[in-house]
Amino acid sequence: MTIRVLHAASELYPLLKTGGLADVTAALPAALIEQGADARVLLPGFPGVAADLADLRPIARLARSFGAPEASLELGRLPGSDVPVYMIRADAFYARPGNPYLDAQHVPYGDNAERFALLGWAAAQLALHLDPAWTPHIVHAHDWHAGLAGAYLRAAARERGLAARPPARSVFTIHNLAYQGIFPAQQFGALGLPPDFFDMHGIEFYGQLSFLKAGLYYADKITTVSPSYAREIQTVAQGGGLEALLKGRAHDLVGILNGVDYAVWNPASDTVLAARYSATRMSGKLRCKSALQQRFGLASKHDAPVFGVVSRLTEQKGLDLLLAALPDIVSRGGQLVVLGTGDASLEQGFARAARQHPESVAVELGFDETLAHEIVAGADVMMVPSRFEPCGLTQLYALAYGALPLVHRVGGLADTVVDTSLENLADGLATGFVFERFEPDALSAAIRRAFALYARSRDWRETRARGMQQDFGWAASAQRYMALYRELVEAA
Ligand code: ADP
Ligand code: GLC
Repeated sequence: MTIRVLHAASELYPLLKTGGLADVTAALPAALIEQGADARVLLPGFPGVAADLADLRPIARLARSFGAPEASLELGRLPGSDVPVYMIRADAFYARPGNPYLDAQHVPYGDNAERFALLGWAAAQLALHLDPAWTPHIVHAHDWHAGLAGAYLRAAARERGLAARPPARSVFTIHNLAYQGIFPAQQFGALGLPPDFFDMHGIEFYGQLSFLKAGLYYADKITTVSPSYAREIQTVAQGGGLEALLKGRAHDLVGILNGVDYAVWNPASDTVLAARYSATRMSGKLRCKSALQQRFGLASKHDAPVFGVVSRLTEQKGLDLLLAALPDIVSRGGQLVVLGTGDASLEQGFARAARQHPESVAVELGFDETLAHEIVAGADVMMVPSRFEPCGLTQLYALAYGALPLVHRVGGLADTVVDTSLENLADGLATGFVFERFEPDALSAAIRRAFALYARSRDWRETRARGMQQDFGWAASAQRYMALYRELVEAA
């Protein structure tokens, strides 16, 4: 039997991306199709999505619009791919330029509850034959934005009678527990859910609404994006107040590591680079490094290790620790290149460092996909010192591009990078630098290890080659999702 699965999410690379979620929602459905599934995606019609989907055609008017004057469903496909993409057209909600969640002042839009309730509701409607030509067996919702899908499926079952099963089975994936989609309780009425869903056993969270909690509570299965994060979120320290719920559902919770789309992230075929290279032909990487130094006006020294950062500048990413450790890089003759956007204090901190050390620190504030590739290709080390990290894709891209990842031992970072301890070097396992405690001196020690290894060029080259040979392709993870879907469909 072919499993039909609908992925409901708010981002999709290359149409709309603020972080790794977009990379996953683009690559995972394609990988599932390779495993024999019939996978489709559902997205709100944000400007980049509405403008760039190919072959868009109307499918249905939506019977509910949560206050938008009009809402309808269209079907198109991602250009250059066969993945069908449903789009909710509700211009009053989605046709706003800039960030999909925040206004120009970086404040969440006042109608976010309705904007994203519509996403979850439309996902459930697709399971109720909204498109007569295609109905999913599985509705797979990602992050709080699609968090209400499971609740609407359950409500639909309720309407059919108490014993009825929901029209589709549901999976909810946590990409980041720190974003919970919390709204005032007064907005519950606008969601059109049965009154008793506003409950501790339901969508209520300390007197408010939580779309994330609804996702966790109503889904048949919960996944998150690495095995370590699946364990961490069951603890008080990292559970964001949801640890008891997650612990209670531990037998329905599984960590499945994200993968790399090597069609997008491969230095041997990456057309934006100054030169292409591979593990057996590395000279192109040096050209990428020189091009990067030139692009940023850094001293053209090929023996200065270049440390790179490509990141959202938020508390999560631990870059305040890097600011504190910056002298360790500069005083040893290293260079730092930062591409990122986010918190004003971090933006200012890195901009100040660049003014103080123009030859060795450079910063670009903004979001730039091409530059992200150029930095990972030109860097010797990619820094990901996150406080917490559900999976992290940057360290995986770094491995593929021969930039040794330097990471905090947490979440998906712990699951994907092996430290260059003497024993790991001797056993041929090391792929990067891992520090244990989230403290400046632990990061400094890891930076010192990076310099020490850089000075031992044979060990460096070996470690780099090992990293480049790691296979983090999507096939293995897609197989695990398929097994999960099969289990759900067979139990139904
Ligand atoms: P997160 O999803 O928490 O931001 P990930 O490591 O999973 O972290 O994914 C981040 C993704 O966003 C990567 O594809 C990375 O290259 C990209 N990215 C982050 N910041 C920027 C930026 N300023 N410009 C371009 N790409 C960025
Ligand atoms: C989130 C997480 C990141 C993960 C990404 C994709 O944004 O912060 O760790 O890689 O989602 O799953």
